Amino acid sequence: MSNRNPALKQAMSLSPVIPVLVIDRTEDAVPLARALLAGGLKVLEVTLRTSNAMDVIAAIAKEVPEAVLAAGTVTTPQQWEAATAAGVQFVVSPGLTPALAEAAQASNLAPLLPGVATASELMSAMDAGFACFKFFPAQQAGGVPMLKALGGPFAEALFCPTGGITLETAPSFLALPNVACVGGSWLAPVDAVKAGDWARIQQLAYEAAHLPGKPSLIR
Ligand code: 3PG
Repeated sequence: MSNRNPALKQAMSLSPVIPVLVIDRTEDAVPLARALLAGGLKVLEVTLRTSNAMDVIAAIAKEVPEAVLAAGTVTTPQQWEAATAAGVQFVVSPGLTPALAEAAQASNLAPLLPGVATASELMSAMDAGFACFKFFPAQQAGGVPMLKALGGPFAEALFCPTGGITLETAPSFLALPNVACVGGSWLAPVDAVKAGDWARIQQLAYEAAHLPGKPSLIR
């Protein structure tokens, strides 16, 4: 299986921004997810950067089934399998390894959105059957000019740039024809999550959900 799976492209087209979440306390998972959805964002990425990440994923999958849920920071096939079993619709990796590309061929795992940052990485990932990519780290790897340049030879590749993007810079990424959505951690500031300030997070989500849209993509 590659990520030519139309479900992945559709998930990338649901909202202009995918919140990238690091959730330390499992009890924050459901109210945080509900606040982001109430603000208008439909797709959530829970990173595997905390020891409780699988519990967080399982809690959101059970209690907030209307969310399109992804696991992020997936770097091994084992994590990919565990995230799929915990209920995600897709997984995101910061890069692509031979082990992940091989797992993609063989399995009934949730589709993978692999990270790329260069033309050679993109070519390898396309050779492995992938058509949708995380461009990571987006700002640091060349930002909008780099994505414009990649759109020349690789016009069919579709990106979710992530890394260093803000509410202010997101529109210039979203204006590119090869960008479906962007990812960012600014939707869930650590202090707001710690304080349980769900109203603030809902407002941040609302602003992100109302960024200029992509008329060519389904929302
Ligand atoms: C990620 O963790 O995938 C991105 O690095 C998030 O980047 P940001 O914190 O700069 O939004």
